[in-house]
Amino acid sequence: MTDNNSNFPKASFELEETASERKVLFEKINDFSEQFLESLPNRKAFQYNTHPFANADSFFEIDNNKATMDNILEFFEERVLNTGLNPTSGGHLGYIPGGGIYSSALADYLAAVTNRYAGEFYASPGAVRMEDALIDWAGKLMGYDQGFGGNLTSGGSIANLIALHTAKHHKGIQGAEILRSVVYCTAQSHHSVYKALKIVGLEDIIVRKIQLDTHFRICVDSLKGQIHADRREGLRPFLLIGNAGSTDVGAVDPLVDLAKVARKYKLWFHVDGAYGGFFMLIERGKEKLKGIEQADSVILDPHKGMFLPYGSGIVLIKDIKQLAAAHTYTANYMRDAHIDGQYSPSNLSPELSKHFRGLRMWLPLKLYGEQAFSDYLNEKLQLATYLSHQILELGYQVVCDPDLSIVAFRLELDEYDSDELNKKVLDYIQKDGRIFISSTVLDNKLTHGLQYFLLEHIKNISICF
Ligand SMILES: Cc1ncc(COP(=O)(O)O)c(C=O)c1O
Repeated sequence: MTDNNSNFPKASFELEETASERKVLFEKINDFSEQFLESLPNRKAFQYNTHPFANADSFFEIDNNKATMDNILEFFEERVLNTGLNPTSGGHLGYIPGGGIYSSALADYLAAVTNRYAGEFYASPGAVRMEDALIDWAGKLMGYDQGFGGNLTSGGSIANLIALHTAKHHKGIQGAEILRSVVYCTAQSHHSVYKALKIVGLEDIIVRKIQLDTHFRICVDSLKGQIHADRREGLRPFLLIGNAGSTDVGAVDPLVDLAKVARKYKLWFHVDGAYGGFFMLIERGKEKLKGIEQADSVILDPHKGMFLPYGSGIVLIKDIKQLAAAHTYTANYMRDAHIDGQYSPSNLSPELSKHFRGLRMWLPLKLYGEQAFSDYLNEKLQLATYLSHQILELGYQVVCDPDLSIVAFRLELDEYDSDELNKKVLDYIQKDGRIFISSTVLDNKLTHGLQYFLLEHIKNISICF
């Protein structure tokens, strides 16, 4: 509604740029992005600065002052890009690097400019079909057959949350049942799992961290022993969480054995494949992750295994009806959106209005095909094997042979305290900044998994390609 004779304040139109204004803004952003990408080889992977904002800058603050795009980009370069971790750098080898492929960024731009409402099939059947196609692809990749469903999330933590909420809902764990229900996991399980349990109201559930073997994989015999002991005590074994690539060392649990145990004791079997799941794109990954197809729920992080920019996770549930039962609500104002027999993302997740995040994954897959991603993952595994050999030759200890692409290692010298020595190595590398590696804490007395946090700790350094 534009009426030049009206008394509407002029500011109402200020957010709507003309074509020539848009061109200027876009070119500035594009030029800046190009300069950034071209300068990557010269940029540090990490800017070590303990007080990056010691000189707090009022430019961060929002008030009624206006800035030019040039001012904004200059500030962005200085205060955002020149501080902390640079995940787009080839030198970022710590934690689990994201990468951030360019075609995905372009897809985000397109998604935002066109702003389709991807939460409801009624509102944007094309966007939802695109997201459904990705869920279908990811589910089949995991070995699911038919009847499965899922949701594209903002990351692995929310994917874990949706999976565990579905498990709780399906198994009817509520009220007094919570106190006698048991979750089985290991000290290698990601902390987002505990967060999820807390958020879904299972903070008081019994959590058993099962003993690990020397490769940081769950000991299936100890698991069975614990389940028997719990049943004898009148407890209710409820949920089994397996790792398909743990964060510390990339450990893959014996998923076939876990699936058998879950079936026998009627446990919900959840597999956290946030980091490792996409290795199903390659043969070695398929061998390692065998059994994942039997999980009741699986999570994946395309912003890890598919190198997308941050903000992409996937939850898959073997039976879509269980996912829908845990998340579907209706409301009077939603009646037009209801279509018999058609699920929308809003029926399968906590979100209603949501980012059209499917496009950032669909577009690169369409442009380059899945083989391109398999090739990259294959290369990462080869690099990890190469690195672990090189590290051994340098006299470092490799904590265990890498299952996937994470290599955890440490330096041990007789005359030095191991923790202090490895802290020094880490500080040196981080201050230098050309590459970034991260540290973790691993129990070197692997037989005491349950007391993991109470024992002597050794700082380990992990590299992930
Ligand atoms: C194994 C595992 N699960 C879950 C998560 C949580 O994923 P996100 O950081 O995407 O929320 C991570 C993150 O590093 C992870 O490594």
